[in-house]
Amino acid sequence: MMAYKMKLTASQEAVLNGSKGDVMARVMETMIRYGELFGAESMVPVTGKYNHLVTSFGLKALGPVYDLMEKLIDAGCTSVQKFTADPRPLDKNVPSSFIQKIVFDHFMYSKQEYYESQLDKLGLLEKDAFTCTCYMDEVGNTPGPGDVLSWSESSAVVYANSVLGARCNRNSGIIDLMGSIVGCVPYFGLLTDEGRKATWLVEIKTTKKPEAQLLGSAIGMKVMEDVPYITGLDKWLGTLDEDARTYLKDFGAATASNGAVGLYHVEGITPEAAEQKRALLAENPKVYVIDDAELKRVYDSYPVIWKNKDARPKLCFMGCPHMSMNQLISWTEKVEKGLKESGNEKVVIPTVFTAAPAVLKKFKETSYAMRLEKTGVIVSYICPLMYMNNPLSASMPVITSSNKLRTYTSARYYTDDEILEQITRGGKI
Ligand code: F3S
Repeated sequence: MMAYKMKLTASQEAVLNGSKGDVMARVMETMIRYGELFGAESMVPVTGKYNHLVTSFGLKALGPVYDLMEKLIDAGCTSVQKFTADPRPLDKNVPSSFIQKIVFDHFMYSKQEYYESQLDKLGLLEKDAFTCTCYMDEVGNTPGPGDVLSWSESSAVVYANSVLGARCNRNSGIIDLMGSIVGCVPYFGLLTDEGRKATWLVEIKTTKKPEAQLLGSAIGMKVMEDVPYITGLDKWLGTLDEDARTYLKDFGAATASNGAVGLYHVEGITPEAAEQKRALLAENPKVYVIDDAELKRVYDSYPVIWKNKDARPKLCFMGCPHMSMNQLISWTEKVEKGLKESGNEKVVIPTVFTAAPAVLKKFKETSYAMRLEKTGVIVSYICPLMYMNNPLSASMPVITSSNKLRTYTSARYYTDDEILEQITRGGKI
């Protein structure tokens, strides 16, 4: 039996000793080793109603993952909770060339169907439960305050911790599944009160509401994996309503991808900050002041890695993380207004808005869906990063207002207003 220092409960120890079979014992062992690497002294039960998996794509090259999944399924080690998963990597509605289609279907994601059947056996919540914004009301995987989670999608982890007050570490891919299978996770980091204290005080002193994705990028790059306590943003957000939640979704994803933030507090807005206020600040926090000039400095620092920097964009992706219902509606109105002003009938750059299948279903029941379709914008459930993650797509001039997509791919970042200008007018920024 493995040597370990962690204090286990009698039932956790029994599982480690094989009470639920060899494979389950190995899964428990993996979680213990993982926890001990981070100095965890115990394991705590996962309490969220559902889990969320980051690995949603049937990449041909991931043979060992499918073997591992098969072993888990054969041994009856399915997830304690049902789970949602990150977005699918393919959608035939998204424009792609003949060669891209062949590469996607036959070389990159040829295992998609097989992998989805494995996920189904392991406990996928429902057939279409593929989105990174699983916490949206329409999807239903919305943890409550204090819930302990075993998630790893960085944009969802930071949202669950910060906006919903749940507790989750930034786990690695397969670890989220293993935690869900054994039903417990090591107690360290963002699961503890101490780990949720802010070591940075970030003061927002801008003259207008900061662009969510730009502000998140600035803070992420500055604090990296630390916890920031943000002041001066409540002035722009008001209360934690639907618009503020959408803002924090995009802001958080940028902090998590441009840095490695797993939790932030916004004074007067996010639940722990509303309750504990500045008691959440650790002693002698570092200070970062953000004004208009600082945001401009960050924006100007982004490298443009297109071969031809003046190329005309071939595609625009919006919705990384997936768009909310109110974003789809407000963008429909913005695109319509932009087209009216420019005298164009349809968007002049092929444009894809991505959202969760459940959000798209609800959106399609509204009159906005037809209106958006008339503008030429395509809606999809795809993950833009999965689309971009290959040399063929990487050589395409793609624009986005997602700082996560900019960070991981060759997509070029523009603010929301600049994107609107480009897709409706085609003007050069
Ligand atoms: Fe979501 Fe894919 Fe972006 S998982 S956050 S749409 S990279």
